Order: sequence, then structure tokens, then C-alpha cells
Amino acid sequence: MSDYIIAPSILSADFARLGEEVDNVLKSGADWVHFDVMDNHYVPNLTIGPLVCDALRKHGVTAPIDVHLMVKPVDRIIPDFAQAGATSITFHPEASEHVDRSLQLIRDQGCQSGLVFNPATPLDVLEWVIDKVDIVLLMSVNPGFGGQKFIPATLEKARQAREIIDRSGRDIRLEIDGGVNADNIGEIAKAGVDTFVSGSALFGKGQDSDPNRYDSIVKAMRDELAKVKR
Ligand code: DX5
Ligand code: ZN
Repeated sequence: MSDYIIAPSILSADFARLGEEVDNVLKSGADWVHFDVMDNHYVPNLTIGPLVCDALRKHGVTAPIDVHLMVKPVDRIIPDFAQAGATSITFHPEASEHVDRSLQLIRDQGCQSGLVFNPATPLDVLEWVIDKVDIVLLMSVNPGFGGQKFIPATLEKARQAREIIDRSGRDIRLEIDGGVNADNIGEIAKAGVDTFVSGSALFGKGQDSDPNRYDSIVKAMRDELAKVKR
């Protein structure tokens, strides 16, 4: 299994200075840019679309952009995000009428594909499409908003997902999203997670005294991860 990935959710960044925020968080040592797309239909909030993804690429962001679709339907917008420079595109199985087709569409567009499981959604569908999945993303809050509390039952789900992935022998990342902070990241890693989305607990911890604003908080998370035996 490859190294731990820290994926800051730009939902909690200062949108008026988004390019600078993304540059800073990457220079601080984060790995991916987690990009939350909400449509005020699948989830009760409205955020950003392909134009903003494209703008980040044009700004010079070369790090992977991890697009998390919280929209329904999903297929129409997939090619737009691929063109806008998405590296990976994940969606919720409830939001697609044809999960297998949507996964194939993402790969056909040259992106990595992933399925997102809400706290109350079982992992069942994974078994039937595991050959078409690069990322399994577990929601540890109900999707729609940053700053919510981590739902502890997700740890057991992570252990189960880890088992399924390992049994498949495939190179699939296990990602978690919601309520992740420096205090719980170690425990989450112990449950088998290798990719960590963090929004409010990361962008909310910027310090003017850090060279790139987020150096200390990214380091705090990495230090906790370094303690985990793998
Ligand atoms: C929630 C989003 C998350 C959110 C995480 O629907 O998918 O990516 O930004 O924010 P925190 O880390 O604050 O829970
Ligand atoms: Zn997300």
C-alpha cells in the first residue's frame, strides 16, 4: 500500500483567495486538493463546479484534484470535470441510476473513479463493481456541510472496507471524509484508511507565523500518522 495522503477540502478555504489558499496548503505539505461539488438537490447546499476546477489548473495547480460529486444525476457533469482537469471523480451510488455505467464513464474520460458511501449506506454495491473502482470514499458525516462531528461507527465500516479491498488484491485507496482532525486521524488510520480529507480542522488552523499558513497543522497530522504501525 502506498503512503498516507492528506487531502484538504477547499470547502473550508477562503473562497475569495482560493488560488492562494490552495498554493499554501500544498506548500505546507498536503497531497491532494479535495473538491466538494454540491447541487442543492442531492445535498442541501450549493458549492462549486467545473469552472472553478479549471481556474485552479490555470492558476498553476498541478497536484491531484479529487472531485467529490454530491450531485444528482452524475453522468452529465462527469465529462465537464474531466475536461476541467479533475484527477479523480467520486460519486454517491444513490445519485446514479446506473452505478457501473457512471464508473466506466469516469475512467473513459481518463480519470480515476470512486464510490462514496454515506454513513448509513452499506458497502454492498462495491463487491459488484470493484474492478472499476480506484477509490472507496467513506463519509464520516452526512454530506452537505463542513465542520460536522466524526461519526464513530465509520471506524468499523473502514475496517470492513479495508478487508474487502485487501481481499480483492487491487490498488484501491480507502479515503475518509468528515470530521477528521489531528486528534482522531491516527485512530482512523489504524482502521485501515490511507487517504484523509480534512476541511475545517485544517483550513481553520492556519497560522500567520507558519511559512505557508498550514505547515504546523499538516505536520501535526503527519506526526500522528507516523505513530501508526502498518
Ligand atoms: C462534506 C464534504 C467534506 C467536508 C469536510 O459533505 O464532503 O469534504 O468539506 O469538512 P470537515 O473536515 O470540516 O468535516
Ligand atoms: Zn468531500
